[in-house]
Amino acid sequence: MTNPITATPNRVEHQLTDKGYVPVYTTAVVEQPWSSYSSDDHGVWATLFERQQQVLVGRASDEFLRNQRAMGMTPDRIPKFDDLNAVLRKTTGWELVGVEGLLPELTFFDHLANRRFPVTWWIRKPEQLDYLSEPDLFHDLFGHVPLLMNPVFADYMEAYGRGGVKAHGIGPEALVNLTRLYWYTVEFGLIKQADGLRIYGSGIVSSKGESIHCLESAAPNRIGFDLERIMRTRYRIDTYQKTYFVIDSYEQLMEATRPDFTPIYERLAQSDSYPAGNVLDTDTVYHRGTGEGWLNDGDV
Ligand SMILES: [Fe+2]
Repeated sequence: MTNPITATPNRVEHQLTDKGYVPVYTTAVVEQPWSSYSSDDHGVWATLFERQQQVLVGRASDEFLRNQRAMGMTPDRIPKFDDLNAVLRKTTGWELVGVEGLLPELTFFDHLANRRFPVTWWIRKPEQLDYLSEPDLFHDLFGHVPLLMNPVFADYMEAYGRGGVKAHGIGPEALVNLTRLYWYTVEFGLIKQADGLRIYGSGIVSSKGESIHCLESAAPNRIGFDLERIMRTRYRIDTYQKTYFVIDSYEQLMEATRPDFTPIYERLAQSDSYPAGNVLDTDTVYHRGTGEGWLNDGDV
């Protein structure tokens, strides 16, 4: 008997054109081609995993670190989605699906709304350890998946997906407001623990430099979570964030997203957005950033 020959899925990445960086989107759901990972691929995983494990002690939230251990991720090899799924399905009913790269917004929201988390099957190259312009397997698995084990955060992610499908139907401005919420919570959120501020955002935990910067640098603002404030705040995609928002608990996040956002979108359509680095009189300020090293333009 012969095994069927399965083609390796595509590695869909951004393209550099004469107009600069152009993101490329793909919708396919693919099997993780685990046996096709090279020793370089496993080596990149091992290097990044061990480095971040050290950096995140005392910096990542207890919940993140505990769940990462409970899932059985180890540095010695790239985890198999099937193994992680066996644990996730039992714990919160989420599952990982393999994808080839960035997804169109509506496809992404639809996955989340159905408790499926899309994970890029390929991992960055050894020369890209410190920076990559788009999500890869390390960011998606190491950064996003551990908190899907937390029942409240898992519900928040599903609610976000449903909210995304709805905002997509309302229009591009609503989508901009909602995307800022994802950015400042799921990707770049901080949480207040009894022993101090900690990281839970995936964009931070998968970056050595930003893991240190977000907590220890005097440059950025650290401000209390406020839903509408966040929905009005622009952000950075090319530098560390100028502002990090701090939640008290995952429950606070879930509660804030329970109401229908439609009236909020209507209200925000009449208001200007805030620059990424602004501090408002109404903010709960944990730390007012010095602004050192900030670029004046480039907020999106
Ligand atoms: Fe992400």
